[in-house]
Amino acid sequence: MIIKTERDLEALKEIGRICALARDTMAKSAKAGITTLELDLIAKDIFEKHGAESAPMGEYDFPGYTCISVNDVVAHGIPSGYVLKEGDKVNIDVSASKNGYFADTGMTLNIPPVEEKLLKLQEVAKRAMYKSIEKAMPGTMSNNLGRAVYNEARLHGFNVIRNLTGHGVGKTLHDSPENIFNYNERRGASLIREGHVLAIETFITENDDYVEEYPDGWTLKTPHGNYVYQFEHTVVVTKEGPVILTNGEEADFFDPFI
Ligand code: CO
Ligand code: CO
Repeated sequence: MIIKTERDLEALKEIGRICALARDTMAKSAKAGITTLELDLIAKDIFEKHGAESAPMGEYDFPGYTCISVNDVVAHGIPSGYVLKEGDKVNIDVSASKNGYFADTGMTLNIPPVEEKLLKLQEVAKRAMYKSIEKAMPGTMSNNLGRAVYNEARLHGFNVIRNLTGHGVGKTLHDSPENIFNYNERRGASLIREGHVLAIETFITENDDYVEEYPDGWTLKTPHGNYVYQFEHTVVVTKEGPVILTNGEEADFFDPFI
């Protein structure tokens, strides 16, 4: 969507804060011994307390309040009785709506101990997201956001997932522009305008560059089970620069590298 009024902006800021709070509260609880279902219920409580509704559940009948993807699951992981253990990679993707406005945010964490290479993937995925956000200025084309992600991944010898993308957000979970790729995709690139609300997300991988859907109809994995690191913020494009709506209360919790 494109923000037209102050009310639009205030409503988006509110749902952005709620999503960030759910994300960070879940991330802090993501320790060995907790199930992904228990993590999901943390988001349920926060949504209820703040009058928000899960977007994947409300829009797509997803069987969970949030998507929690562990290890070789890249995205759309269904919360379950799986007990997190040391060495797991966990992606938490939180999207929700309130009063008809949507925000979307995600982060990927490691439960220590973690291999050096996975730490590097995590760091690159997050930095790539910020490099992409920096490009979100009025008048640019969306492929410039993708090019920034791709260049950061390649600089470190990593790759990007080509069939998962960022997207517009705001009045629906998946709003216009439909796709903001993780590489320089000129075909179908769209003009980024002042007031655009974008969910900018990175999918950084060791090697495999696409995901496939599994028989449950939700779970996405790469062909060789490569681990993928995703980070995502909801951002408003302004003349003064991009404004992130899903920063948490504690910036250094989400941003240990920055
Ligand atoms: Co998301
Ligand atoms: Co998204």
